[in-house]
Amino acid sequence: MSNSRKRIFITGIAGFIGFHLAKALEKEGHFVTGCDHFNDYYDPELKKQRAAELSSVHTLDICERAKLKDLILQNEITHIVHLAAQAGVRYSITHPEKYHDTNLSGFFHLLEILRAHPHIHLTFASSSSVYGLNKKIPFSESDPTDQPANFYGATKKSNELMAHSYHHLYGIPMTGLRFFTVYGPFGRPDMAYFSFTKAICEDKPIKVFNNGNMQRDFTYIDDIVSGIIAALDYDAKFEIFNLGNNQPEELLTMIRLLEEYLGKKAILEMLPMPPGEIKTTFADISKAQKLLGFSPKTSLEEGIQKFIHWYRHAYSVL
Ligand SMILES: NC(=O)c1ccc[n+]([C@@H]2O[C@H](COP(=O)([O-])OP(=O)(O)OC[C@H]3O[C@@H](n4cnc5c(N)ncnc54)[C@H](O)[C@@H]3O)[C@@H](O)[C@H]2O)c1
Repeated sequence: MSNSRKRIFITGIAGFIGFHLAKALEKEGHFVTGCDHFNDYYDPELKKQRAAELSSVHTLDICERAKLKDLILQNEITHIVHLAAQAGVRYSITHPEKYHDTNLSGFFHLLEILRAHPHIHLTFASSSSVYGLNKKIPFSESDPTDQPANFYGATKKSNELMAHSYHHLYGIPMTGLRFFTVYGPFGRPDMAYFSFTKAICEDKPIKVFNNGNMQRDFTYIDDIVSGIIAALDYDAKFEIFNLGNNQPEELLTMIRLLEEYLGKKAILEMLPMPPGEIKTTFADISKAQKLLGFSPKTSLEEGIQKFIHWYRHAYSVL
């Protein structure tokens, strides 16, 4: 990270990525604050535990525009990292309105604040989900992204388009980061690696979709945090970057690693592909490599081992 001290506001700061990013930025000596509304999409206790390790967290819904604006201005923020979102593909099939409220309306409120303060740099979370029904792999930022496979992906693509229009009209500097299946300690209980771990520990079956024929470009949290920090330093006018591991792994490989580090066999319940899911994600990261120096370092073996180590302590599993 460059030497200049930034004043950074993170939305969704008590979330998985927000928490790890805030810790890393605090360690580097930046002023870091942010907001989260601690919703119950997954256990809010986990979010409270993360927040307790950070120096400044405000409880606020990003849709409360006036209060959000006050926080940003009072703290003389120079950079916003927008991570607050309703995440998850499957939940978007049953609860699309939550995605509309935070991902579309919430993002709009943020853009409207920035319209009056266009000197503040916005870095925002997009997703590999924008690639939707694309068949060509690896996914490159120059590929078309107009066929989302679910509403979550549609909201993330919409954010990129909304951002571009505000950048074009008002000159707000913006960077969109398409994250690929981020995992690690203090992670999200709704994600497969986490829910599978819980199920294996409790001798419950795990649901394996498409009979296990799925590949994910699993990206370790520390590598994602390095990529976000590099994007903050790069200070683009308007850019979109893939942040992935560039190494898709079979879902069954991930399960085998969980079994190995837990020392226990999983009970597999093989199921067909659910609606909205995509079979393979695979990031072409050459643009991030070239412009940000992004270079993910953590193998799935190492990352899963670190996650299981954390999980055992966090949930007293011996
Ligand atoms: N983890 C991944 O694999 C992954 C992959 C692609 C994209 N992303 C994106 O990265 C971002 C961070 O993801 P994460 O994995 O840390 O998810 P997360 O759910 O752990 O974090 C999001 C946080 O935002 C908060 N939040 C949601 N709506 C809010 C609102 N209206 N106001 C204030 N706070 C609100 C939640 O309480 C949560 O703590 C999200 O935008 C997500 O869509 C994540």
